[in-house]
Amino acid sequence: MKKIGIQVLAILLMTTFAHCNQNDLSNFFIQENINHASTQIGLQLKEINKQGGVLNPRTINEDGSTRYIIKEDWTSGFFPGTMWYLYELTGNEKWKNYGIKITESLDSVKYLTWHHDVGFMINCSFGNAYRLTGNEEYKQVMIKAAESLSTRFRHVAGITQSWNVDRGWQATRGWKCPVIIDNMMNLELLFKATQLSGDSTFYNIAVSHADKTMQNHFRPDYSSYHVIDYDPETGSVRKKNTAQGYAHESAWARGQAWGLYGYTVCYRETNDPQYLKMAEQIANFILNHPNLPQDLIPYWDFDAPKIPEEPRDVSAAAIIASALYELSLYSNVGNEIKLKADQIMESLSSSEYKAEIGKNNYFLLMHSVGNLPGGGEIDVPLNYADYYFLEALNRKRKLEQK
Ligand code: GLY
Repeated sequence: MKKIGIQVLAILLMTTFAHCNQNDLSNFFIQENINHASTQIGLQLKEINKQGGVLNPRTINEDGSTRYIIKEDWTSGFFPGTMWYLYELTGNEKWKNYGIKITESLDSVKYLTWHHDVGFMINCSFGNAYRLTGNEEYKQVMIKAAESLSTRFRHVAGITQSWNVDRGWQATRGWKCPVIIDNMMNLELLFKATQLSGDSTFYNIAVSHADKTMQNHFRPDYSSYHVIDYDPETGSVRKKNTAQGYAHESAWARGQAWGLYGYTVCYRETNDPQYLKMAEQIANFILNHPNLPQDLIPYWDFDAPKIPEEPRDVSAAAIIASALYELSLYSNVGNEIKLKADQIMESLSSSEYKAEIGKNNYFLLMHSVGNLPGGGEIDVPLNYADYYFLEALNRKRKLEQK
């Protein structure tokens, strides 16, 4: 009797699945992730409200507490951006309310000129806020921030300088004008600033930076160095180094992700086919790398010496997934590219990487690496892993609705 019951149940399930097309499954997957994120980040927001004030979570400290950051931290735009993506994904005003509060708390970042990350900080926060609210004041913040970023443009070398060399650990490396591959992510703000202001200066700086980076940051296999040090007087390359990767000649996973995302944006904004080709080649390097695990979540560095006993970097995976969804819109092999992004999202949504509700200090994803050689943030949640995961989910939803 029991056996017959199980058989009937199996037939019922099979019939249900047979009627369930691919779209239904995708919609179910997307909705499940939205529900999970709303509940989990909802708990984070509850905790923030309990503590009072405007708090901006980045990761978990070694003692298990949540690390909240000041607005000058390079990751300060990601939690506000998470609010905006949740607002877009759910329509729930509670995300918008805290989104406005925390975004506006970053206002003075528009004057920041001592590092390049103002693009991340302002575009992820105010960029999304402007996109979703149309508030003119946010537009002015974006333009001002682009002006601040432009003060770092070095005309002879044709790049914007990433880090200053007169302070902190950067002062110990003997660099004159270091540019990191991450800086490709700051170009989106420059492109947008030209659209918003009509001033082509920002666009021209972005294009110059992208071209120089293409010339000097990449190896013949389309992997990239982390740090290129330029001589700002002659424009020549002084050093090809790493800071967060395993070795100067290795392929730091998040760096590859930043390059992929950055050139995809450059193609969107310029229509220049050389950027599309670049993004495709970087995708090819990442996706066909022999050290990329089957679940497509990379180790923190593709050349880390103890693979497979090395930490994964979920933040790199989330950035790659988001970039691939956009690249799939432009590439001739878009279907294959989208499939890879879907596979990454499946992996990230499994219990291997996605936190149980109420755990992980209410961050969505586990197992990212911030800076392994620097000894910081190894195998932890990171606010940018969550941000790019939700961006990827949002992009997937739009693609499925097409
Ligand atoms: N921009 C810093 C990082 O990717 O860690």
